[in-house]
Amino acid sequence: MKRLLDREEIERGVAALAREVTAEFGDQPITVVGVLTGCLMLVADLVRHLEMPVELGFVTASSYRGTTESGDLLLKLDDLPDLTGRQVLVVDDIFDSGKTLAAVKQSLLARGPSDVKTAALLIKRGRQVVAERPDFVAFEIPDEFVVGYGLDYRDRFRNLPFVAALEPQDLRDLAPRGA
Ligand code: IMP
Ligand code: MG
Repeated sequence: MKRLLDREEIERGVAALAREVTAEFGDQPITVVGVLTGCLMLVADLVRHLEMPVELGFVTASSYRGTTESGDLLLKLDDLPDLTGRQVLVVDDIFDSGKTLAAVKQSLLARGPSDVKTAALLIKRGRQVVAERPDFVAFEIPDEFVVGYGLDYRDRFRNLPFVAALEPQDLRDLAPRGA
């Protein structure tokens, strides 16, 4: 594994993200909607920097994929608080193709918020297939598959306190026996 961002860099990036969010919303109330499961660390760290009134909600986004390939997207929005008239900030771990945040934003707009903005810890260089970029991003990274700080490979490595790129050797070590 090749480390890209250590714990201190992530902390500084999240604090900077929080300053941008604060500059945008001031002391107006917002609803932070995290995209599970990858958003977990970022939401937890980000909201502790915010001083406006904050409500929290979560959606689940998953795609049919075992590995590093994007598949069809499944969204679950069943447990959200009422978004009518709210200023919403959607938070995800990474903006790769951009399809997930674009789809979540579209679905949330149908619930009558006054505004929907988007934030991601990471954006992957040169991968986007949607026109819109997130409103707030902490770091741009090269086109590599990364894990840690919420990001997983087959549900592993979310708990790493740093962000690292997987290397071919890691993938070989993790391959199911016989594969
Ligand atoms: P997008 O819809 O292509 O932008 O992909 C966003 C989702 O794919 C993120 O919420 C992640 O769950 C996952 N993803 C994309 N790239 C990576 C990566 O490098 N590591 C781990 N998960 C990733
Ligand atoms: Mg995700």
